[in-house]
Amino acid sequence: MRSFLKLSSVLVICLLPDVKSALAPPNALNLRLTADLSHAIPSTLYGYMWEDINHSGDGGLYAELLQNRAFQAVIPGTQNALNSWQPYNGAFLSVTSKTDGVSAALPNSLEVRIPKVVTGPIGFENTGFWGIKVQEGWTYKGSFYAKSSTSIGKITVSLKSTRGAVFASKSVEGVTTDWKKFTFEFRPSKSAPNDENVFSVVLDGKAAAGKTIHFGMFSLFPPTFRGRENGMRIDLAEALAGTRPSLWRFPGGNNLEGHSIDARWKWNETVGRLEDRPGRVGDWGYSNTDGLGLLEYLNWAEDLEAEPILGIWAGISIANYSDFATWPVVPEQDLQPYIDDALEEIEFVIGDAKTTKGGKWRASLGRTEPYNLRLIEMCEFPQFSLRHDFDQRWKFQPASYAAYRWKAFVDAIGAKYPHLECIATTLPSTALDPPYKKIDFHMYNSPSWFTSNAFLFDDYPRNGTLYFVGEYAVTSTNDKNALGDIPSGRLAYPTLQGAAAEAAFITGLERNSDVVFASAYAPSFQHIRNYQWTPDIITYDASHIVKSTSYYVQEMFSVNRGTHVLKTSPTSTADSAPLFWVASYHNDTNVVFLKVSNTGTSDLVANIFLDFPITGFGTATSISSPSLSPISGIFNVSNTIEEPELIIPVASSFAIPHPDRFNYTFPATSVTVITLQTSNLGV
Ligand code: AHR
Repeated sequence: MRSFLKLSSVLVICLLPDVKSALAPPNALNLRLTADLSHAIPSTLYGYMWEDINHSGDGGLYAELLQNRAFQAVIPGTQNALNSWQPYNGAFLSVTSKTDGVSAALPNSLEVRIPKVVTGPIGFENTGFWGIKVQEGWTYKGSFYAKSSTSIGKITVSLKSTRGAVFASKSVEGVTTDWKKFTFEFRPSKSAPNDENVFSVVLDGKAAAGKTIHFGMFSLFPPTFRGRENGMRIDLAEALAGTRPSLWRFPGGNNLEGHSIDARWKWNETVGRLEDRPGRVGDWGYSNTDGLGLLEYLNWAEDLEAEPILGIWAGISIANYSDFATWPVVPEQDLQPYIDDALEEIEFVIGDAKTTKGGKWRASLGRTEPYNLRLIEMCEFPQFSLRHDFDQRWKFQPASYAAYRWKAFVDAIGAKYPHLECIATTLPSTALDPPYKKIDFHMYNSPSWFTSNAFLFDDYPRNGTLYFVGEYAVTSTNDKNALGDIPSGRLAYPTLQGAAAEAAFITGLERNSDVVFASAYAPSFQHIRNYQWTPDIITYDASHIVKSTSYYVQEMFSVNRGTHVLKTSPTSTADSAPLFWVASYHNDTNVVFLKVSNTGTSDLVANIFLDFPITGFGTATSISSPSLSPISGIFNVSNTIEEPELIIPVASSFAIPHPDRFNYTFPATSVTVITLQTSNLGV
């Protein structure tokens, strides 16, 4: 294991000189950790914003292995409708709605025509989400529907490599003229060497020659996180859970809004049997199964022990993304049905299972207890830091948000559910009626923007208004165009330099957590074979995952969470750049955390003085430039699918020979969390 720790040596310094305005090596900073607590840190400070983007849901967190499993949101008869399906040995495939589908919600089915002259097995294959992981020891649970007007013999389903090696196989028979569901399990005899595997469905050529068979609603699940039915992919779920998020904002983001009003995310079409979920064309260019629906998200938030923030569709859709004037807005006089829909959604989530219609419906789906929902967000799209498009957007957007949409939804929700808090998504400078008490706004920008805005919240009014940085990320090295393309500086993956800048910014969020109640890096996930947005916090393919430098920053900040901010002297300010820090204290464990980002290109030494007794060793967890690599000292580096562990946190412990001080070297472009065990600081 690499170690970047420079063991402390003793420095005898009696006076603490002022911090220099630009810190310079070697002995740059004298920092006192006081025993004074500033304020409590809200439990919701670190979490995620979630939407299906980059196949983060379908093909990502949602463990379903078959892509386009039920031909949802496709146009029958087109080649696109056959996405991820391919014929095997000469079968003719098409997607049709000319015969009844397996349910009213799923009108499309796969029509398979077998030629009159066939030799051997014939059928079709699903290529998964750009491959399928085959793992010895796993039990895969599968199902499909089939019907045919004539007898077709047995159907054999298998997991096999694209070169024909079979890892698991099962046969079923008994297809009739009506839709019938077939279920099966696979237990692969060995693991596949790679993801180049398919789910195969074949018929006996002789028995099926000249016949037509319809198939619908396939499904194949590997083991899932905590064994949940219709659950999450284990490695991805564990990675998210590993940062111990305490907030889960869903279901978007743009993907809530829809390309048109009718194409919006409709909560009531994401609940119930999978056969009753029609799916939709998502905002990010691919069909959504909605297998990850409202209840799955709420259950997942419970699994994470994260507070849900339910995004409510609030009367706006996204047409041409970059031309805001094209975005459909519901006029004031037509808004009531959408407000009613939001109220029904909330009732479904928290209504009493015996006395409310929504609660009864929820109970009929297996969940009697109301969910613990406190926060509702009136979804919108406020990118604070994108100056290039912000002005244009802002001329358009508040016209309806501030004029009537915010008020209409907030008043209606407040009247029926006074205990719920509504979060606005607009710019803090926008006047709303009723005034917002919580507000979410978003920041995508360059490393220099994030470091220079690390103190953004220092001067925000302490008047009871609380802020949620509901989406943020270093997206580009280009200060003028943060969401441009890769040649213009857009990041393909999070970089160490970007992660250090995010960490600098997060020290400001934590230090100001008396007014910042929540934050979320975004977006979360990226399937490396099909994505719409970079960078993302976790990248993956069918069987590998990459935790980015930004992921590790989230993990380090969220897992090492104090209950109270601890005052330091000096406080981190712009004058002490490129070191940025925040200290906190946990009143159950009596642990002190010192989180430090060094965004500079030189190692910097801090002489750290303690106003409280400590016991034992100090520990430090750090990400920094890979010292043993030929690219050491270059900071625009990333973990990638090819090199997933180039930069990983390194944990070390160090002796503290003097009871009240030690020194520590923060490596160039690094993020470090130091933990110290003290005794009760008297909260
Ligand atoms: O996180 C990606 C997108 O950025 C979100 O969908 C949207 O809210 C924002 O524009």
